[in-house]
Amino acid sequence: MKLLLIGSGGREHALAWKLAQSPLVDTLHCASGNAGIADVADIVPIAADDILSLLGLVQREAYDFVVVGPEQPLALGLVDALQDTGVKVFGPTEAAAQLESSKAFTKALCDKYKIPTASYGVFTDLGEAKAYLKTMTAPYVLKADGLAAGKGVVIPETLKDAEAELEEFFSGKFGDASKRVLIEEFMRGQEASFFAISDGKTALPLIAAQDHKRAFDGDKGPNTGGMGAYSPAPVFTDAVMADVMKNIILPTVHGMAKDEHPFVGVLFAGLMLTEDGPKLIEYNARFGDPECQVVLRRLQSDLLPLLIAAEAGDLDKVEQPSWFNEPVANVVLAAKGYPGKYNKGTEIKGVDAANEMDDVVIFHAGTKREGDKLLANGGRVLNVTASGETLEQAVKRAYAAVDAIDWDDKQFRMDIAHHALKV
Ligand code: AMP
Ligand code: GLY
Repeated sequence: MKLLLIGSGGREHALAWKLAQSPLVDTLHCASGNAGIADVADIVPIAADDILSLLGLVQREAYDFVVVGPEQPLALGLVDALQDTGVKVFGPTEAAAQLESSKAFTKALCDKYKIPTASYGVFTDLGEAKAYLKTMTAPYVLKADGLAAGKGVVIPETLKDAEAELEEFFSGKFGDASKRVLIEEFMRGQEASFFAISDGKTALPLIAAQDHKRAFDGDKGPNTGGMGAYSPAPVFTDAVMADVMKNIILPTVHGMAKDEHPFVGVLFAGLMLTEDGPKLIEYNARFGDPECQVVLRRLQSDLLPLLIAAEAGDLDKVEQPSWFNEPVANVVLAAKGYPGKYNKGTEIKGVDAANEMDDVVIFHAGTKREGDKLLANGGRVLNVTASGETLEQAVKRAYAAVDAIDWDDKQFRMDIAHHALKV
C-alpha cells in the first residue's frame, strides 16, 4: 500500500516508525515530517494545516490510505475534504473532531448521555462568568472553549486570581478560543490518558499512559503539550479500563453516532481517577503526544490493520492487538524556555549513538538536518523512550540515553514516572 501520514511531531515519528514496520506498507510519505521521520518515510514539505496543498498532493499521488496525526487539520475539516476526493482516511470529520475542538460540545454530549465528568458552566459574558465563579470553591478551573495547544486551562487558587484570569480570557488571551469560557468543578485524583480506536459504531480499547503536563519537576510551572509519559499506568487497572469503556468510551461512540456525527479515529480520553470512579476531563480526537510514543512502543502487533478496519467500519471483525508487557518511559527534551520563548537552530549531537543504546528508541519532534548537523527546530525537540523489565529500569535507561545526548539548550524533567515509582 501507498500511505500518507500527516504531521511533524514526536507522535508522528512514532506513527511513522510503527507504520513503516507493517508488511502491508510499500511506500510511506509524510507531510511535513522532521529529521527523524525522514529516516523511515519520504518527506513531503507541506504543513499539516495547509489543506489545499494536501488535497492537491493526495490527488496527484493516488494514496491508498491517509493517516492524520495532529488536531489542527482535523478541526479544519481535512478529513471531510480528503473523503470528498475518494481517498480512504483515518481520522474524525470536522463535526466529530468537535469532541476536541470544542469543550462545550463535549460537555453537552456528557450531559445528554450521562457520561461522568466535572460539573460546569459555559459563558460568553464576563459578568455572568464572575457571578458563577462566586458559587464555586477554590481551586477554580477555567478553560478556553476552543483549541489552545493544550495550554487553554488555568487553575487559580484564589477568587481574586480567578477573576483576573477571566478578564484576560475575555480580552482574548487565547484569541477566539477564549471568547467562550468554561468554569468547572475541581476534581481530585490521579490523571491517566486512555486511548481507544473507533469506527463510528464501536470502540476497541488500546492501553493507557500517564503524561506530565507541567514544565518543571514536581508538577510545577506552566502547562505544556507534555514533558514525558510512561505506560502502563499502574493506577489504570483492568477494572478501571472496563469501567471507562462501559461508562465513558462506548456511550460517547454511541452518542456521537446517534447525533449523526460518528467518530472514526483515535479517541483519547483524559481521565481523572476520582474516589467516585473515573471521570472525563476532556477528549482529544487523536493520539496524545508524548503518550503515543510509549503506547506504540508497547504495541506488538501491526497498527495498520486496526486503522484500516476503523475506516471501513469493520472494527468488530478485527483481531485483538497484542501488547508487550515491558513498561516504556518517554523523557521529552525541549528547548530552554519552552513553553515560553525559546531558540531554534541550536546544534544537537549524539542522538544516533543514544538511539543505539539498549532498548532505547528516540523519536524526533522539532528537529531538522542541515548538512550533517542535527538542529533544534521547535519547542519540544526529542522524545527519549526506553523499555525495561520494570518501569524503574525503563526510566533509568531513558535518562542514561538523555545523558548521552549533547545539547546545551536542552530542558527536561528529571522526575518522569514519579507518581508510579512512588507507590
Ligand atoms: P485539559 O486541557 O482539559 O486536559 O486540562 C489540562 C489539565 O488541567 C488537566 O490535565 C488537569 O490536570 C487539569 N484539569 C482540567 N480540568 C480539571 C478539573 N475539572 N479538575 C481538576 N483538574 C483539571
Ligand atoms: N499529551 C497531551 C496531548 O497530546 O494533548
